[in-house]
Amino acid sequence: MSATAIFVTALIGIGILVAAGVFAVAWRRGPSAGPIVGEFDKDAAKRDVSRKPEPETTVPPPEAGDDAELPAALEDAREPVSADDLGVTRRMFLNRAALGLFGGGFLGTLSISMLAFFWPKLKGGFGSKINAGPLADLRAQVVPGDGSIQPVFFPEAQAWLVPMGAAELPGSSFEGLPVVAGAEGGEQGLMALWQKCVHLGCRVPECLSSQGFECPCHGSKYNFHGEYDSGPAPRNMDRFALEIDSQGNLIIDTGAVLETPRAVVKTIAYPQGPSCL
Ligand code: FES
Repeated sequence: MSATAIFVTALIGIGILVAAGVFAVAWRRGPSAGPIVGEFDKDAAKRDVSRKPEPETTVPPPEAGDDAELPAALEDAREPVSADDLGVTRRMFLNRAALGLFGGGFLGTLSISMLAFFWPKLKGGFGSKINAGPLADLRAQVVPGDGSIQPVFFPEAQAWLVPMGAAELPGSSFEGLPVVAGAEGGEQGLMALWQKCVHLGCRVPECLSSQGFECPCHGSKYNFHGEYDSGPAPRNMDRFALEIDSQGNLIIDTGAVLETPRAVVKTIAYPQGPSCL
């Protein structure tokens, strides 16, 4: 799993925890918080029973146009705010503060997660230019010297590296496209085929016995240059633009996917042996 995926997963996890916290606080502060449990204060009960009811205060209605001051009787009718009332007010404040904190944290986490998810990859990873290593080493792996082809899978680029000679390019479906690197001077060039089947996107494995790529999902088959041979695939396998840097490394531009139509003239024979399907 890439660092970005771990980061996004962690943020989503934090978001879920914060959401659970908000729910827990809201649930606890709700009207169904359960019965009040405590000891019965007998002294307080006796004081309540012995307390005489206070006479009701009749407040005369204000006269029309008289909005200067409150009547004295109304001032006298005011009751001081008790400690309990103050406690309820404080509790409400704390509830709202907790909800605001959790809600703000959740929205903030969600925003950061979305931003991290959609932030363009500026360096490294699929969708950017990927250094596959020295071209000479890759060439030696792909064409071991016994005449066979051993495609090399490069996971970071989701690509199969296959050989392609300069002499095979004219008249091919790739002629004029920047999909072959290292073929100058009669050397064996390389191509990078996207592993994704152009039919419905399954990963296409290589088949060494037939010297081709054969899709296990619906049976599309391609030769080792990724040229269409049979099956429901609508075109050749897609491939990436390539370049070679100043140190001789093969650079696969996974942000530049090039499509080509079904090959009319094949540049390599297929099948050369039994199929893997
Ligand atoms: S996805 Fe490969 S043939 Fe359908």
